[in-house]
Amino acid sequence: MLTDHIEGELLDRCRRLRAISNYAVGVDNIDLDAATRRGIPVGHTPDVLTNAVADLTFALLLAAARRLPGAISSVYDGDWLTWEPGLHLGAEVHGALLGIVGMGRIGHAVARRAEGFEMTVIYSGAGGGQALDAVLTESDFVSLHCPLTPATHHLIDTAALSRMRPTAILINTARGPIVDQVALRAALVDGTIGGAALDVTDPEPLPHDDPLLSAPNLIVAPHIGSATRAARERMTELAVENLLAGLDGRPMLHQANVVDRAAP
Ligand code: GLV
Ligand code: GLV
Repeated sequence: MLTDHIEGELLDRCRRLRAISNYAVGVDNIDLDAATRRGIPVGHTPDVLTNAVADLTFALLLAAARRLPGAISSVYDGDWLTWEPGLHLGAEVHGALLGIVGMGRIGHAVARRAEGFEMTVIYSGAGGGQALDAVLTESDFVSLHCPLTPATHHLIDTAALSRMRPTAILINTARGPIVDQVALRAALVDGTIGGAALDVTDPEPLPHDDPLLSAPNLIVAPHIGSATRAARERMTELAVENLLAGLDGRPMLHQANVVDRAAP
């Protein structure tokens, strides 16, 4: 699981280990180089969860734009007294500019959903697009879909947040450590950005007294991007297929590293 951290030291103790099958698309919890050096294939579960994560991205985007958690709480708390023109005003999603950071499978699926809202989509990523700064500066919504690597750790830091529009909303359904949470809290408190919606944090879960949780205009969900019955069923099948292939010495359906079978 993505909650298991697999590093060289652990691998050295697993002398008979022949295959690792991660029940996730992200493999940042596994030291891939350490596994590769030991000739151990690492499977993961892309594709089958792409639409589920893209759906949740849009759910968070819409919820943040329309201030849904606070508006709903006001009903349950008995604070809603009457319809008023100025109550719970949010941002229009239709026609807004969406900036996607990391245009892989999930980034593309989010962009397809944005078409239905007649949004303009710009992106930055390892494979092309615009400079990250341009995406941050122009976008009404910035959505993160890059993997967590040394290069993307704290990619969204104080400098990055300062480039964003004061009304902009940051959405993260990728990995928590891509965002510097101390910087994010400051940006929300100071009004440097308009809001944030996170499905992932660092750590997970956040301690309930973490300062981030008291920041304004913030939504935090408990890492449920791929949590649909269909996606989890397909992830299970794929993780099992990958594992059986690895144990058989066959290439896995989705393998995150390339191993030399002759390695020790
Ligand atoms: C979930 O976060 C995954 O990487 O599958
Ligand atoms: C809102 O409910 C409207 O009718 O405009």
